[in-house]
Amino acid sequence: MEIKSVIMAAGKGTRMKSQTPKVLHEIFGKPLLGYILDNVKNITSENFVIVGHCAEQVKNFVEGNYANAQTILQSPQLGTGHAVSMACPMLKDFKGLVLILNGDIPLITEETLKKFIEFHKGENSDLTIMSAIFDNPSGLGRIIRETDNTLKCIVEEKDTTPEQKAIKEINVGIYCLDWAKVQPAFSQLSNNNAQGEYYLTDIIEWGKKHGLKVNAYIMENNEESFGINSRLHLAEATKIMQKRINEKHMINGVTIVDPATTYISADTEIGQDTVIYPATYIEGRNIIGKNCKIGPCAHLRGGVEIADNVKIGNFVEVKKSKINSNTNAGHLSYIGDSEVGAHVNIGAGTITANYNPLTKEKSKTVLKDNVKVGSNTVLVAPVTVEEGANIGALSVITKNVPEWALALTRSPMRVIVDWVKNQMKQ
Ligand code: UD1
Ligand code: CA
Repeated sequence: MEIKSVIMAAGKGTRMKSQTPKVLHEIFGKPLLGYILDNVKNITSENFVIVGHCAEQVKNFVEGNYANAQTILQSPQLGTGHAVSMACPMLKDFKGLVLILNGDIPLITEETLKKFIEFHKGENSDLTIMSAIFDNPSGLGRIIRETDNTLKCIVEEKDTTPEQKAIKEINVGIYCLDWAKVQPAFSQLSNNNAQGEYYLTDIIEWGKKHGLKVNAYIMENNEESFGINSRLHLAEATKIMQKRINEKHMINGVTIVDPATTYISADTEIGQDTVIYPATYIEGRNIIGKNCKIGPCAHLRGGVEIADNVKIGNFVEVKKSKINSNTNAGHLSYIGDSEVGAHVNIGAGTITANYNPLTKEKSKTVLKDNVKVGSNTVLVAPVTVEEGANIGALSVITKNVPEWALALTRSPMRVIVDWVKNQMKQ
């Protein structure tokens, strides 16, 4: 059965206290909304993202990065029920399932979403919500069940009675709907509640009233339901994500010397027997080969492809570069917009000067196989150093270097014999 998603991302995120919309705040260089879109992309045929607050910015991110996603404007933002109703014209004659997700729950996984949909189908459900159990569910919508334990309704915390407030089962913010059956609900919601909003959660009662089969799926790992409402939540989610990703790599045969100080983005692949040393930060999309040594204190900023047996040492920053096998950049270097061959040695303090602040253009540095770059060299891009060439230490390389040549730009060393002695005599 075809599945489409509606992702709610129009809210202000007031508690973030930010000029950036909440869903564009990042974990390891990827916006929260990116995590949601990546989780649904193998499940759905089309995704609608409801935007409102800073709509242009969110639209640029979504439409610039996800081919099967488009944004729909919700203005003004009158609540989650109102948000989803914005997608009704686009889904008018759709006969499949619609997966609805809050845009601020980045820790949910594709596997959990798949289990949720299987549950919905297996139960022959018309409307399924995802729930989780928390000892301290403060701030979240409570799941109210009938005496026979079936789902009754969801009550937002601000609308709860004291007994309801004590309930530990909460609404995660993920819903699966048999669209043709539930769609009429969206023109019939009311905003008669403590917040004066059109609540999406009211579709449960609507469904029951209209004879639909409603269900709640209790998720196995409640950590995945963690919603981001503040910077404190963002830091907490980053920690959870860090642990999850590091564990995945260690299980796959990567050594992480100190998982607590190692940060690896979700979109980084790492080959077997690679060792990641402490205080290393890896963001964006990267591929790291086998038997590499990364860090301590290395920073990979995305778009980095590293082949096998490469060493990226302490205080080395790499961005948007390809580095071939058996190459070393051991200390204090910046490698950006570069193509580095195999068996290259990059001396301490080497900088690729890739950015021209006048033209705002970035240019490429190419170092072919077997090149040796002396310490404290600046490679002013665009520049190519051909195979086997050597660069003397402290050089500023502004022109291409032919193969097997030595290039150096420093002034010759002078020795003035007895200079110190002569000074003392005066
Ligand atoms: C919502 C649920 C609550 C659940 C919680 C889980 C409702 C009424 N309540 O509450 O039961 O426990 O999520 O985190 O749905 N949004 C829009 N347009 C709007 C309002 C919100 O797009 O007009 C978006 C927000 O950007 C956000 C999501 O919907 O991504 C949830 O909105 P939020 O205000 O955070 O809802 P909660 O109060 O957390
Ligand atoms: Ca929320």
